[in-house]
Amino acid sequence: MSKKRILTGDRPTGRLHLGHYVGSLKNRVKLQHDYETYIIVADVQALTTNFANPEKIAGDVRQVTADYLAVGINPEISTILVQSMIPEIAELTVYFSMIVTVNQLRHNPTIKLEAAQYGYQDLTYGFLGYPVSQAADITFCKADLVPVGGDQIPHIEQTRKIVRRFNQLYRPVFPEPEALVGEFPRLMGLDGKSKMSKSLNNAIYLDDPAEEVKKKVSQAVTDPARIRKDDPGHPEVCTVFAYHQAFNQEETPEIAEACRAGKIGCVACKKNLAQVINSLLEPMRERRVPYQNNPALIDDILREGTRKARNVAIETMKEVKAAMHLDYFPI
Ligand code: TRP
Repeated sequence: MSKKRILTGDRPTGRLHLGHYVGSLKNRVKLQHDYETYIIVADVQALTTNFANPEKIAGDVRQVTADYLAVGINPEISTILVQSMIPEIAELTVYFSMIVTVNQLRHNPTIKLEAAQYGYQDLTYGFLGYPVSQAADITFCKADLVPVGGDQIPHIEQTRKIVRRFNQLYRPVFPEPEALVGEFPRLMGLDGKSKMSKSLNNAIYLDDPAEEVKKKVSQAVTDPARIRKDDPGHPEVCTVFAYHQAFNQEETPEIAEACRAGKIGCVACKKNLAQVINSLLEPMRERRVPYQNNPALIDDILREGTRKARNVAIETMKEVKAAMHLDYFPI
């Protein structure tokens, strides 16, 4: 029996961080052995916010790919592809756009939140409609499972609606994909105020050097009620403790107890955490080296992955056009 498929990906808008890791990357690395995995570098989607400076995207396409390879996505078994190089995805987006209502898109909570964050009022068609293009990303390879961060749930719901509508109107071409969210879908940022994110400057990046990790962790916000080292702490409100829960599960009960009893100070607790994070990142740093020495390897991986994915997309589009009675004659 053939394996089920995964399709997932990211917008190339900069370096990936620990929030991406626990929200989704970790699942992808684990599941690539059990599923036929496709990972899309969604450069067209990056244009929703970068339309005025598209020249920035090329570097980020390679950065995101390097991050994938560093966390352990294995290009021998997983296919990494560039969205804009598969025109069938754009074609499928147009067909899907006929069966999505503007109201569905306008009520998408992630779109609303992002529009507010960017200060967009009069949304572009492409921004409002990117969940439709994301549905085409997911379905060109007939994906069954989509490992993503929690913010992506509305988009997967939208994809499922489109798939149901398509299958019912024309012919059952697509499986209904399911979202899979990581254990820690909303990792707190170092500021302890909002989710870890590049734009808020509160992130630890997967390619941060060890010293940078130590420095960032030492500046992380802890329980404000703890002024002296032996004051009793409240782990439930402490960002550093939240990171112990995400990255240092074995030690978490001891740390909670010691903190509550005022037996471990924040400085020691942070030192321990920095070490734990650095030992997670160390193998990633090592995996990155060959690509830093030879960046052309990254393009080779993307070329091969995109070619393979394109063949899959071409086959799917034949089925889509036949199902829609758009297969008049060969040219
Ligand atoms: N919207 C996703 C993000 O912002 C990126 C993405 C594009 C994606 N296409 C996808 C995720 C398909 C999963 C499946 O990170």
